[in-house]
Amino acid sequence: MSKVITLNEYIIERQSDFPYAKGELTRLLSHISLAAKVVNREVNKAGLVDILGKAGDVNIQGETQQKLDVFANEKFILALKGSSECCGIASEENSEIIEFDTELAKEGKYIVAIDPLDGSSNIDVNVSVGTIFSIFRRLSPVGHKAKVEDFLQEGSRQVAAGYVIYGSSTMMVYTTGRGVNGFTLDSSIGEFCLSHPDIKTPNNGIIYSINEGNYIKFPRGVKKYLKYCQQKDDQTNRPYSSRYIGSLVADFHRNLLKGGIFIYPITDSNPDGKLRLLYEANPVAFIIEQAGGMATIGNGDRIMDIKPNDIHQRVPLYVGSRSMVKKALDFMEKFKEDKK
Ligand code: AHG
Ligand code: MN
Ligand code: MN
Repeated sequence: MSKVITLNEYIIERQSDFPYAKGELTRLLSHISLAAKVVNREVNKAGLVDILGKAGDVNIQGETQQKLDVFANEKFILALKGSSECCGIASEENSEIIEFDTELAKEGKYIVAIDPLDGSSNIDVNVSVGTIFSIFRRLSPVGHKAKVEDFLQEGSRQVAAGYVIYGSSTMMVYTTGRGVNGFTLDSSIGEFCLSHPDIKTPNNGIIYSINEGNYIKFPRGVKKYLKYCQQKDDQTNRPYSSRYIGSLVADFHRNLLKGGIFIYPITDSNPDGKLRLLYEANPVAFIIEQAGGMATIGNGDRIMDIKPNDIHQRVPLYVGSRSMVKKALDFMEKFKEDKK
């Protein structure tokens, strides 16, 4: 049997990559993975919730039933609050930042932006969902409560980012800026085990992922790029395959491993794009760049260079294999003056 490396072993081993680190980031990542296991347990029995909870909406533990994204949010908040490394959170589920006020948490050096359950509209139909997180060092002084400015840092200042995909198997994929590694949950021992070391995304791929139902609302450059993807050309393996799950984590994960491009552009109804900079675009941008790919807002500007002005800010997202993103940008540039 080859040696199994658990996530906890791995992050402790890699702690020496950070000369200034005293183990806080290591512990923070461990706490996130622990909360992910709890969420995983609930996600896996999502189909049973109705059956188990029918009598007065109370489940067998006596807890009132909750929507899974609220449940996931609570679990991550609890894990991070108790971790003593994190002084505050920005979550998709909370309009304002959550500042932890315990003496222990105020000593925390890090803040976390999180989408506790991504793709939650897919949960009822047994399609993969995920959790996405982004970690920064705080700017405000240690010993005090977190401030909103701590969260409004450019993505290039992330110290770690990752996601958990609750799919046909559950995986945690993360980076601390030294490559990307993936760990698969072995539910028989309850541990994430290193299964995808040093992930590199192919420079080119044959998958494009976009909600084509919105075609009519897309900028002209995107429409032209989609037509390019659909044209026959044996040399470039076109037409490409269209794959769109509707969970960013699942779409991104597939394209990361296989090569591909994911686009959520501006549309008439979402003039700034739909996805959120802090807890959707930034973390996947950090991961894709570490894996050799690219993430931009569609005009060549890097996602991770955007200075946020709001914790729930939305951005257009073009992310994936380097050659594919560059090709999409060529079309955006060529047709940038055209309205539709
Ligand atoms: P969330 O479930 O966290 O609100 O995120 C949903 C997001 C993302 O996962 C996905 O890529 C996108 O919404 C899908 O949007 P459309 O349904 O507009 O394609
Ligand atoms: Mn989401
Ligand atoms: Mn969500």
